[in-house]
Amino acid sequence: MKLKMGLIGCGRIGTKKHLEAAIKNSDLISLEAVCDLDEEKVKNAADIVERAGLKRPKVFVDHKKLLEEPLDFVAIATESGYHHDITLDALNAGKHVLVEKPMALSTKDALDMCETAENKNLKLAVCFQNRFNPPIQELRKKIESKAFGKIFHAHVAVRWNRNKSYYEQAPWRGTWEMDGGVLSNQSTHAIDLLQWMLGGNMEEVYGHIANLNHPYIEAEDLGIGVVKFKNGATGIIEGTSNVYPKNLEETLAIFGEKGTVVIGGLAVNKILTWRFEGEDSHPFMNLPDPETVYGEGHVPLYKDFANAIIEKREPYITGREGMKALEIILGIYQSSLENKPVKFPVIFSTKEMKMNF
Ligand SMILES: NC(=O)c1ccc[n+]([C@@H]2O[C@H](COP(=O)([O-])OP(=O)(O)OC[C@H]3O[C@@H](n4cnc5c(N)ncnc54)[C@H](O)[C@@H]3O)[C@@H](O)[C@H]2O)c1
Repeated sequence: MKLKMGLIGCGRIGTKKHLEAAIKNSDLISLEAVCDLDEEKVKNAADIVERAGLKRPKVFVDHKKLLEEPLDFVAIATESGYHHDITLDALNAGKHVLVEKPMALSTKDALDMCETAENKNLKLAVCFQNRFNPPIQELRKKIESKAFGKIFHAHVAVRWNRNKSYYEQAPWRGTWEMDGGVLSNQSTHAIDLLQWMLGGNMEEVYGHIANLNHPYIEAEDLGIGVVKFKNGATGIIEGTSNVYPKNLEETLAIFGEKGTVVIGGLAVNKILTWRFEGEDSHPFMNLPDPETVYGEGHVPLYKDFANAIIEKREPYITGREGMKALEIILGIYQSSLENKPVKFPVIFSTKEMKMNF
């Protein structure tokens, strides 16, 4: 039996990664319907599916009409500011939901999404596809086997370049209502990896954000955070879109009592340092960077989500898991605004930045 799927949002990531992931998992998934407000984009999406040799999906310009179809699940790849409302519409229509990152722009909305899915016994998963990068999976095995001993601290650096033409392509980017800045948009994957590796129980965050080089956007182009975890570990976050003249790196470093790992490259796809007792290298050192910073993780992410529905188990990255990176980011925003550390659970929204930043 194949799961019937609908895609809502056929823009950049929708056409580049979600269609590919559905097509490459066509043993498990049948893409029945696609939807975008823009008729040309939705027809283009249907063309791509047809050109891949699959049945042409039905096209919709109203997601509520798509939700009337007999679908098992939908993927949501619209602007971030719409994720909450469309997720609620889909859950209320009885569909499982795979939602792009960030899952929402307020902790209240994210919690609402998780609770609604739980109450309706439906799956909710978040597109943190970098968790499936082969070097990240290798690191995860070491974390799960406790090979690091006590972990002291971890550091993530997202040092990329986003210029004026990037923001002109899609005016929602960099706005508080629809997106947030370099932490919320570009650094959310790295922040998810950091919290995942450090155990996911945050106590307090201190942050600083600034807009130094992008006068045409509302939100930050530099974000710094220090996160204290309940197990005593500290996470350090640096996100910037100001790197001259192009993307430099997305790097995660973990420092433990009995292990040191650094995974870098353009988007955490290469092992740079791998040191444990009796081990000082790894076969995944110097892997080539993927074509785009999106990587190749949507394909295994879709496979896991489909299998989670079929096997009636939790997906690899649940809504509750996806919420943690959002809480850290909103905690950094709140801390920066109030100029003091913020305790978890964080209750905040990017909309509160609109008036005050
Ligand atoms: N996982 C990743 O690595 C990754 C990478 C890029 C973007 N994203 C996320 O994906 C989302 C989309 O980003 P993008 O760059 O593709 O944006 P985009 O602007 O290219 O595409 C968004 C599309 O959603 C459509 N849309 C809006 N409301 C809709 C509705 N009600 N029904 C149907 N379609 C609707 C828009 O018309 C637009 O075509 C964002 O949340 C972004 O943060 C994730």
